[in-house]
Amino acid sequence: MDDLKRQAAARALEQVRDGMRLGLGTGSTAKHFVELLGERVRAGLYVVGVPTSEATRADALRCGVPLTTLDEIDRLDLTVDGADEIDPDLNLIKGGGGALLREKIVASASDRMIVIADDSKWVDALGRFPLPVEVIPFGVAATQRAMTDAFRHSGVSGQMMIRTAKDGHVFVTDGGHWIVDARLGRIQDVGRLAGLLSAIPGVVEHGLFVGLASTAILAGAQGIRVVDRR
Ligand code: A5P
Repeated sequence: MDDLKRQAAARALEQVRDGMRLGLGTGSTAKHFVELLGERVRAGLYVVGVPTSEATRADALRCGVPLTTLDEIDRLDLTVDGADEIDPDLNLIKGGGGALLREKIVASASDRMIVIADDSKWVDALGRFPLPVEVIPFGVAATQRAMTDAFRHSGVSGQMMIRTAKDGHVFVTDGGHWIVDARLGRIQDVGRLAGLLSAIPGVVEHGLFVGLASTAILAGAQGIRVVDRR
């Protein structure tokens, strides 16, 4: 699996040109991209990156990739990131690694987003993977009740869990928020659910990435498949 992730990352690297401003994703697949990019930088490529998490910032620095922020530059040419699920419209579930907020800010500031993954992430419909929703700790029970209503109004339902870290404590995001993971099953109307969740005051951001990815690069046993948004 790790080899497939690296293959997808290597294919995405072919899209990188000298001088590009890049969004650098988070997770095990995006980490391969940062490492391969670092090799190219050490060989003379000039790019500048905006990391989507503190973990990616550390990886990029270790690999020698120059970094900037969205305060210093206004747009990015390309973001390369992983995903937890990808549907045929290239809508995504992201946030399994807890970085969805910065990932969405960075993807939204990019002219193009390439999603890299092994082909197990490809699904007919989003929702098998629990949907991560980043929330403010204050009033989390009220936020969860509002989320339940949002689910009902978009035709889904399921268990919610506040994410915990390996040490058993509540997982805290880079932004100081919590994550509620919602096991919804098949999400029929992704756009409606995304809109309803965004309207809840305690929700900072949700892991539905709608209309952001322009291309998916999927690596599988049979080779690499490149899918452009229809
Ligand atoms: C991080 O918050 C996520 O959105 C990741 O991009 C996603 O979980 C994919 O991670 P892997 O490449 O490790 O599967």
